[in-house]
Amino acid sequence: MTHARQHTIQVVAHRGASEDAPEHTLAAYMKAIEDGADALECDVRLTADGHLVCVHDRRVNRTSNGRGAVSALELADLAALDFGAWRDSAESPDWDPARGQAPGEFTSVLTLERLLELVSDAGRRVELAIETKHPTRWAGQVEERLLHLLRRFGLDAPAADEPSPVRIMSFSARSLHRVAAAAPTLPTVYLMQFVSPRLRDGRLPAGSHIAGPGIRIVRNHPGYIARLHRAGHRVHVWTVNEPEDVDLCVRLGVEAIITNRPKQVLSQLGRL
Ligand code: G3P
Ligand code: CA
Repeated sequence: MTHARQHTIQVVAHRGASEDAPEHTLAAYMKAIEDGADALECDVRLTADGHLVCVHDRRVNRTSNGRGAVSALELADLAALDFGAWRDSAESPDWDPARGQAPGEFTSVLTLERLLELVSDAGRRVELAIETKHPTRWAGQVEERLLHLLRRFGLDAPAADEPSPVRIMSFSARSLHRVAAAAPTLPTVYLMQFVSPRLRDGRLPAGSHIAGPGIRIVRNHPGYIARLHRAGHRVHVWTVNEPEDVDLCVRLGVEAIITNRPKQVLSQLGRL
């Protein structure tokens, strides 16, 4: 049973509607938009020739029919791979690769640029939560390319007094610090797998605006969410797939739920 809340919790599709379609593909993001997600989450990495692509792992082995590290492959190499074939249809009953799209585009590597186009053509407001993956290896290049691309879409300098359609997330405080230095009004989310002892009081590292605790932190330390709120931070929790965890997030008053199942979460929140 979901309890009453004071604000609308944002439902964020983690890697797209990734329970229903292969993660980080156009198929998964189109499904998430169709399902009514408020926002889309993606991970970004740099290719050998400097393109930002939406891939979670360092290597493409798990999610495509190819092999190798994203950073060692060029965009053309990645474009020759299929990022959908690994998901069998029994696992993804709602995923229909033949549904009006060229199969190539539907499950080929997704560039961040293409995802930004999809969001801007969505016909309604759909926000984007972009996670920089292991950016410290790249000495600032990931953030530089990212901000350059956002500038082209007019998204790098949102008005300070209006909700931004884009935010940058990272487990790396240094990455968020770089983003905040170059784009001070762009919201940043500090992702946490555990709470560092020096941040237990609810403070976040410099340059981080929003807290992004994993659901295990929320389950094990629910009082921490109140401390984050008291310190003035919004709280975006990942990856929340179980109904009882959605209920817990509602009770604690978090601002966003990041989930592989946007449709089910929207339905549980009474929004479908
Ligand atoms: O949304 C944050 C979450 O995606 C962080 O973990 O491993 O799924 O990128 P991961
Ligand atoms: Ca992620």
